[in-house]
Amino acid sequence: MTASIERYTRTAVILHWLIAFGVLFMFALGWYMSELPKDGAKAMSYDLFDLGLYTWHLAEEASPRTFYFNLHKSIGVTLLALILIRVVWRLTHRPPALLGTLKAWEKALANKVHTLLYLLMVAMPVSGLIMAVASKYGVKWFGLPLLSGLDDKGLREIFVEVHELVGVVFITFIVLHILGALKHRFINRDDTLKRMSIH
Ligand code: HEM
Repeated sequence: MTASIERYTRTAVILHWLIAFGVLFMFALGWYMSELPKDGAKAMSYDLFDLGLYTWHLAEEASPRTFYFNLHKSIGVTLLALILIRVVWRLTHRPPALLGTLKAWEKALANKVHTLLYLLMVAMPVSGLIMAVASKYGVKWFGLPLLSGLDDKGLREIFVEVHELVGVVFITFIVLHILGALKHRFINRDDTLKRMSIH
């Protein structure tokens, strides 16, 4: 008989994986869109990432840069809402204690990385949101006007830098977090990853 392990709640698990894939997708989208030329030809519809899977039809024509920036902002705002729900869930539900087999330094490191990940998970979309509000464009949520732009160049420039810098720190800790999970799965061969699996 295998001993039952203490797991995260199903809500915590679903939020963890939705946000994890959402954040990784946002990094890819952020890097991709930043390379797009400012003077790209405008179009009324976009084949998402030229994959031939889904064509997005717009109400007014936009350049590829505008289209992907708006998509990044829309998904980013949605993720921010999910992240805030997750923070509230975390504050109101104590997570299961780390496995007893972990050494003291491993527990301390895991706890510190988790706290930092929560902070970075909030800082990343919030810095993007402030940058977008500071710009002249503001934020539309999948086409619906959400926040108008202040056209404050100084504030925008600061938050372009903040968003980039938070991104570098965030991706570093995400890699550390994934390496930790893989170490438990393939080197220690313990149940750490199972605690965060869909059940
Ligand atoms: C977890 C959420 C987010 C992630 C992981 C993310 C990631 C990124 C990345 C990797 C870049 C490229 C930075 C570079 O040039 O190196 C970027 C750029 C950008 N992001 Fe985000 N982002 C997030 C949320 C948001 C939100 C919520 C908004 C606005 C509502 C936003 C607005 C922007 C804008 C406007 C840029 C382009 C900056 C420029 O070059 O002018 N981001 N983001």
